[in-house]
Amino acid sequence: MIINKNEECIIEIEDIGSQGEGIGKYQGYTLFVKNALVGDSVRVKAMKCKKNYGYARLMEILKPSPYRVTPKCSIAGKCGGCAIQHLDYQKQLEYKQNKVKNCLERIGGFGSEIKMEPIIGMEEPYYYRNKAQFPVSKSKDGKPLIGFYAGGTHSIIDTEHCYIQAEENVEIVKIIREFLTEYDISMYEEETHTGLLRHILTRVGFVTGEIMVCLIVNGKDIPRKDILINRLKLIKGMTSISLNINKEKTNVILGDKVIPLWGQPYITDYIGDVKYQISPLSFYQVNPRQTKVLYETALDYAGLQGEETVWDLYCGIGTISLFLAQRAKQVYGVEIIPQAIEDAKRNAEINGIKNAAFFVGAAEDVLPLKYQEDKIYAEVIVVDPPRKGCEQSLLDTIIQMQPKRVVYVSCDPATLARDARYLCDRGYELVKVQVVDQFAHSVHVETVVLLSNEKKKAYHVEIEMKM
Ligand SMILES: C[S@@+](CC[C@H](N)C(=O)[O-])C[C@H]1O[C@@H](n2cnc3c(N)ncnc32)[C@H](O)[C@@H]1O
Repeated sequence: MIINKNEECIIEIEDIGSQGEGIGKYQGYTLFVKNALVGDSVRVKAMKCKKNYGYARLMEILKPSPYRVTPKCSIAGKCGGCAIQHLDYQKQLEYKQNKVKNCLERIGGFGSEIKMEPIIGMEEPYYYRNKAQFPVSKSKDGKPLIGFYAGGTHSIIDTEHCYIQAEENVEIVKIIREFLTEYDISMYEEETHTGLLRHILTRVGFVTGEIMVCLIVNGKDIPRKDILINRLKLIKGMTSISLNINKEKTNVILGDKVIPLWGQPYITDYIGDVKYQISPLSFYQVNPRQTKVLYETALDYAGLQGEETVWDLYCGIGTISLFLAQRAKQVYGVEIIPQAIEDAKRNAEINGIKNAAFFVGAAEDVLPLKYQEDKIYAEVIVVDPPRKGCEQSLLDTIIQMQPKRVVYVSCDPATLARDARYLCDRGYELVKVQVVDQFAHSVHVETVVLLSNEKKKAYHVEIEMKM
């Protein structure tokens, strides 16, 4: 072993890892160092040493990277939310663009033919999240602890101000914190599964300004709730206050039952021209401004003229489907979670959209069924799968069906590269790639790609005609 546990060494950080950690080499041996940045010269202590690589703790920055900035947030290094807030935002964008390019090259085997558009970053990379879930507990001296979990743990770091959440949360959390102390309301303790208030969920409609507060309790009710409601409803935009009952000993934040306490049971918001009703249990994109950019790109890549039939696979609450429906003849959405499909249908209804239909089920089951039995052919298929990407059987159905265009929206460039390669080995071509930053200061990255079979088909027709 080149270095042993607890030994220190000096290294230059040359790269950024998939979790935002710095990567450097000590005599050829790779070390991953949390909180170190590309361009830093650092002294580190080896913590875990495997055969070919190890993990080290940052002890001292000897020469800071030119891309290192002072994070706005004093707990950015500890909290699990912002892994790279100490990296200059332009460099964050460059890192995300390269991450996608590397996956397409290394995993997908694509080369110079990749047409990558410049990444679309945020105009304002702070206060962009419309949803917050603050865990609540009490400190050793009995005071409320409300904030975020330290990275990879369940210990709460008390926070008054989070720079990526909606600013309205500062006032909401302050009111609840004071209420808990004043009226001696008990706070949840995970180890003993005792205490009442577990989490505070907030949502803010960025277009409408409507605000929702939902208190998740390990019990049936909250004492003196009228006093809390009277204080919260004074906040400008407050629209919905509710309780959520979660008495289970679980890491899942929300229980199934919501009890409205004041106002409407939902808030309303818009992405583009499409309106959404959002209740505490609904899924909704957390960065609606960049979601609009992402989905407008998907719509643009779909190249709709108004006569097409389109599948939106893994459609969630139908956000992309309703975007597409504005320009297509007919859209079909498929999603595995029944509640999300109910939301999708309601969202279509409140927007007066009649050319979108939704099915509950696994995309890999529903698509072949509808294609083979009901003969539904689509010119365009949009997929927005979870991290693990598409099932191979789904890709096989796409190849059988031969839609002209496949628009692949992805939150994991590795599985995107794998699936794009599968389609390109079977007649499709990777036409365009657009990376969009939805989550500034985190390592997450969203990508839209256009795959088309039109050029290759035209080429085959031309060859056949020449023969
Ligand atoms: C990245 S999200 C897509 C969100 C969606 N575009 C929206 O706007 O709400 C992936 C979705 O795929 C769903 N899902 C996971 N596996 C699935 C499957 N095999 N078939 C259909 N949907 C699936 C998840 O429940 C989730 O809603």
